[in-house]
Amino acid sequence: MFMTHRNSRLLRILRQNRWKTTSCSNDFTILGIETSCDDTGCAVIDGAGNVLGESLYSQNAIHVRYGGVNPFIAHELHREHIETAVTEALSTAKIKIKDIDAVAVTVKPGLLLSLQVGVQYAKYICMEYNKPIIPVHHMEAHALVARIYHNLPFPFIVLLISGGHCLLCLVQDVNQFLLLGESLDNAPGEILDKVARRMKLKNIKEYSQLAGGKAVEEAAKKANNSQQFQFPLPLNRNRDCNFSFSGLKDSLVRKLIKKEKEHGITGDCLIPEYNDLCASFQIALAEHLGHRLERAIIFCEEKNLINPNNKNIVVSGGVACNDFIFKSMQFVAGKSGYSCYRPPPKVCTDNGIMIAWNGVEKLKKSYQIQYDLPLSEIDPIAPLGKSLIHEVKCANIPVKVTKLTNLL
Ligand code: KG4
Ligand code: ZN
Repeated sequence: MFMTHRNSRLLRILRQNRWKTTSCSNDFTILGIETSCDDTGCAVIDGAGNVLGESLYSQNAIHVRYGGVNPFIAHELHREHIETAVTEALSTAKIKIKDIDAVAVTVKPGLLLSLQVGVQYAKYICMEYNKPIIPVHHMEAHALVARIYHNLPFPFIVLLISGGHCLLCLVQDVNQFLLLGESLDNAPGEILDKVARRMKLKNIKEYSQLAGGKAVEEAAKKANNSQQFQFPLPLNRNRDCNFSFSGLKDSLVRKLIKKEKEHGITGDCLIPEYNDLCASFQIALAEHLGHRLERAIIFCEEKNLINPNNKNIVVSGGVACNDFIFKSMQFVAGKSGYSCYRPPPKVCTDNGIMIAWNGVEKLKKSYQIQYDLPLSEIDPIAPLGKSLIHEVKCANIPVKVTKLTNLL
């Protein structure tokens, strides 16, 4: 479908970029829509990354009760909130839909039913108001949003740790990602959620509404002895950058059962050592993440993929909210002379800002500015970038794990 733009600013920007005649204008606004999992998030931002308006309808408190994200409930709640979320983002930005230059929307990866709600609403707005639509990869958006807040030229290394993913990448451009490592089983946030549930942390009133990972972090802060429990280092013998978390979870469950037996714990009660168990587990998680990150740094340097004058690492995704894990990654990065950044915690978890920002980055480079978005572009399981996982394995880089016990 061809579109006649009412919006001359957008045409000017696209033309400027195509011919690279002048530096790119920031005088445009993007509406971002995120519905890939259990958050309905919207935001309006301008070309400079100023957040003009935002809204977030989190379903976490509801899903916690059901013991995990229920796709049908998530779908219903997105449908219930999408219009309000868009209206709220626009009204806090004091802008009308007709004055928005384009709509960016998450098309992959995520829950099919959830993605459909955001995409269908974005399509409706774009048809009704004659706007271009920009499809967004959720994980690319997590990776790039740090560029709003920090000076991060390409290329940089990114560690994406969330409820659905664990990915290590080199980001070479807005749409160029090299995948260095990924989880072979679960995601770290998913494991933290499961562990929190198994430890019954939600029975403690102050943690009852929190995401599992946040509850583990808060409990770990109260530990007396964070070294009481020892965990195996996952994939210790595999000289690659892949991850595995299920063994850590199984190890925790075994320790928990042993303690429950020891104390005769049943029903809703928690073991007395739950703070220490959370702290020891968090250290094990951080050491595994850091171990793979160190190998990724060495690999990128050996292959001349990093500019020695810009040695930067970004950590993003919901688990990046965890201060101990972030501090640990900063420590590991610092050993090799890298700076380590993350977006503000509320932008690490799912939100509309990162989707709108991805739209800004793409618009500035005239990537994927579409005039139609077929529903077939929705892709629940979309890989990220070009895989270099085999090349990392072949490089056979030995790395000794950095102990992080003293950082807590
Ligand atoms: O990125 P996100 O909002 O959603 C996905 O795309 O998955 O990440 C959600 C995950 C949940 O598993 C949650 O337990 C975890 O992020 N999380 C945390 C913290 N806050 C949220 N994990 C560790 N520490 C936190 N403070
Ligand atoms: Zn996410």
